[in-house]
Amino acid sequence: MTKVTTLGQFIIEKQADFPYAKGELSRLLRDIGIAAKIVNREVNKAGLVDILGDNGTTNIQGEGQKKLDVYADGQFISALRSGGECCVVASEEHDDCIFIESEISRDAKYIVCIDPLDGSSNIDVNVSVGTIFSVYRRTSKEGRVQLGEVLQKGTQQVAAGYVVYGSSTMLVYTTGKGVNGFTLDPSIGEFCLSHPNMEIPQNGTIYSINEGNYIKFPQGLKDYIKYCQVEDQATSRPFTSRYIGSMVADVHRNLIKGGVFLYPTTSSHPQGKLRLMYECNPLAFIIEQAGGKASNGSSRILETPPEHLHQRTPIFIGSTQMVEKVEEFIRLAETETQPVG
Ligand code: AHG
Ligand code: MN
Ligand code: MN
Repeated sequence: MTKVTTLGQFIIEKQADFPYAKGELSRLLRDIGIAAKIVNREVNKAGLVDILGDNGTTNIQGEGQKKLDVYADGQFISALRSGGECCVVASEEHDDCIFIESEISRDAKYIVCIDPLDGSSNIDVNVSVGTIFSVYRRTSKEGRVQLGEVLQKGTQQVAAGYVVYGSSTMLVYTTGKGVNGFTLDPSIGEFCLSHPNMEIPQNGTIYSINEGNYIKFPQGLKDYIKYCQVEDQATSRPFTSRYIGSMVADVHRNLIKGGVFLYPTTSSHPQGKLRLMYECNPLAFIIEQAGGKASNGSSRILETPPEHLHQRTPIFIGSTQMVEKVEEFIRLAETETQPVG
């Protein structure tokens, strides 16, 4: 019989690696794992219960919220609230931070940024969706945690992870010592270690971008897409285009197979579309830990100074050599448009 390692066992076994308060981060990750199982249960029976469709509300970004967006948000916040390790949550679904001020959270040291349900447009059509989370330590010792403490650079993350609710449900996380993936075994209701020490191939042949926006892309991106489509045996081109529309699922596939996910600035989203604090930073931390790269076109996503919770950024993330090629095309197009002299 093969040995099964559950997420809970693995977290405890690895907690000696954590630089700080060991038991507390373990408990926080365990709480997120439990909430993920509850959300998974609802995602799985969507269609049978009244949980599909619009919620009739909008978030701060003017995006219509789905019922499952609101449900997932509620589950993760309530798990973090009752766990007692988290003092503040920043969620895609709330304009402002949620301060947790209960008796058990008095000494809580962790800050969580979360996209409770990523890929909303896929919810109603039975296509993979996900959850993305990022964990920071608070920097002050006591008193009410300040907004400035939430707006830390991605390099300060102590843990990050995602869950993909797909053909199987997986939780993938890092605490800065490599990346490990766990598949939910529904027969025992546990996430079990299935992908130890995940490493992204240094190069790949998949590019993932919403090509319908082509006309709105900057010139460097247009040039890169054309490069992907040219026939060249030496570099295995033309590349394969794969775009699910749930960032978490697109990045997960490229982590396993090798590839690049691109969401550039566009004429309608001049700052980019995806959010730094709860989409780009956690996935950048994971991909870097797996040996890949995440860039905004010229510098590392994790070095971006955050100015507000719902800040957007362009992102190019995945196999190192592919991300570097995108950067090269962006640089080239920018030099060509520079006035001479
Ligand atoms: P969310 O559902 O959390 O708002 O995120 C949707 C994001 C991301 O998951 C996806 O990659 C991207 O939006 C898709 O955007 P387009 O429809 O513009 O391609
Ligand atoms: Mn999202
Ligand atoms: Mn979302």
